[in-house]
Amino acid sequence: MNMISSENKELLLNAIEFVKHHKPNQALMQTEACDDNLLHAVNAIAYIQKQDFASALRELKLSFGFADLPSITQIFKFILKRIYEHNNILNADRALRGEAFKVICLGRFLYDLGYNLEVKNLSMLTGSSGVLDYAFLKALAINFNVKNYLEIGAWFGESIANLADVAENCISISLEKNDFRNVEYIETNLNKENFCYYFSEKQNNIKSIFADTKTYDFSNLKTKFDLVFIDGDHSYEGVKNDTEKVFNIIDTEHCIVVWHDFKNIYNKALPNTINAVIDALSPELLSRIHLVDTNICGIYLPAKYSGTIPCYQDRNEIFSYNIQLNIEQNHLGK
Ligand SMILES: C[S@@+](CC[C@H](N)C(=O)[O-])C[C@H]1O[C@@H](n2cnc3c(N)ncnc32)[C@H](O)[C@@H]1O
Repeated sequence: MNMISSENKELLLNAIEFVKHHKPNQALMQTEACDDNLLHAVNAIAYIQKQDFASALRELKLSFGFADLPSITQIFKFILKRIYEHNNILNADRALRGEAFKVICLGRFLYDLGYNLEVKNLSMLTGSSGVLDYAFLKALAINFNVKNYLEIGAWFGESIANLADVAENCISISLEKNDFRNVEYIETNLNKENFCYYFSEKQNNIKSIFADTKTYDFSNLKTKFDLVFIDGDHSYEGVKNDTEKVFNIIDTEHCIVVWHDFKNIYNKALPNTINAVIDALSPELLSRIHLVDTNICGIYLPAKYSGTIPCYQDRNEIFSYNIQLNIEQNHLGK
């Protein structure tokens, strides 16, 4: 029997207490130092699935040792998922107490920039992002002096065209315009001619790589990126693939990563994305993920930027936006 050390035992007990009190990030922190496997974890997980944290704790207290069980990191990633699946992930009070992903107050972030932002080329068609997604990306690029931007999934080129106004060098990896997945969606769901890359083709600081990220070799990218936007294949496998490949090539102490469709507008986790990200990243990297209160993005912030984006929510304050619509008619080619 492979007994767990008393030091690790204490860490685990602390971690389980955090899980019991819905504090997944702290639980993960506690387990980072553990290297033993955990007996009866499977039983404990069953209790956790039933939201019976007291029984899970009792089970784990009884059982330390034995090989061939899930690693502690795997167990806590699982626990993290269960908690987020069952809870509203954007409870500002909980986030402020550090009991969930921290939540960025987007209004305050944009307000603190000190000037008005302009976003353009919004088709508002299904599959495109929203005004505050684009505003967030653009504000990040300005605030953190982003020179090199990478985007996975460009669609009509709306997001990357907005970023190209503020970043020097923009690269997208996205399916061929005539890939059957684009054609099928645009023709069937939108009943449109193929408008892929319509907006990005117009800007000369955008380089488009037409490839499937499942097979594309990311080591071909020789650029040191400052900001990456992951908005391609939104299946679990797609997000996991893109997240792993992106984190393999970036400097995690420098580069910001944003995921679209991390949560919905009702502040519920979108399981495909959140589970894929939890499975792709280490507990340490996960602990640096934030959510955004009024768009549907999640963001990885390197440690050096920790605390530089406001997460503070004042219950007596809301931010509002004055929008002037300038409507353009667009025709394809010819
Ligand atoms: C939601 S749209 C992107 C929207 C765009 N970022 C915006 O906000 O304007 C998703 C895009 O990802 C692309 N895509 C889907 N699966 C992909 C894959 N496996 N590899 C590369 N691109 C993919 C689609 O062709 C589509 O262009």
